[in-house]
Amino acid sequence: MAKYIISLIASYFIGSISTAYLVSKNIYKVDIRQYGSKNPGSTNVLRVLGAKPAAVVFIMDLLKGLLVVLLARYIGGENLALLCGLAVVVGHDWSVFLKFNGGKGIATSLGVVLGISPAVALWVLIAGVVVIILFRFVSLGSITGAVLFPILLIIFNYPAKFLYFGLALAAMGVWRHRSNIKRLISGTENKIGRKSKTG
Ligand code: G3P
Repeated sequence: MAKYIISLIASYFIGSISTAYLVSKNIYKVDIRQYGSKNPGSTNVLRVLGAKPAAVVFIMDLLKGLLVVLLARYIGGENLALLCGLAVVVGHDWSVFLKFNGGKGIATSLGVVLGISPAVALWVLIAGVVVIILFRFVSLGSITGAVLFPILLIIFNYPAKFLYFGLALAAMGVWRHRSNIKRLISGTENKIGRKSKTG
């Protein structure tokens, strides 16, 4: 039991480390939460600061999720890996270091999914990237990937516990995109390809 509690708390704290915030603040002297969509995530770093820091943030956020899942599986098996996978995304989305605010958890979730099922992660990634290329809305690609994840778990015949995990991960992803969904519906969502500090 202690192993579970300590691992979950550690995963939450690891998730809480906001690489978008740290990279922008320490290297570019910018608080990313004040610019663009105000989201501390790689998409907003791309929008505000450019491709290089965005790539660093995306990879670090993805690795955060992947490493937590691999470590948790090593320590306690599949069930702990699933629970810690959720905890690291909760930490990213509601960071203890950012007054319980945070990112939208997509890169970290992708890392988690990669650790749980590389094949499913590949399909989620392909679907997300295709949607982004077609529509130029990263948020729409993220939401598509999130919704597709539990569906793919069913298609790939994963047991029920994976489906519950997938539904929870998808729900968090969609919930964190509430403002994007409103903007998508009203036609005011930001397209990628524009570097700006305001939009
Ligand atoms: O993963 C975040 C992305 O889907 C949306 O980011 O900055 O456009 O709200 P943003």
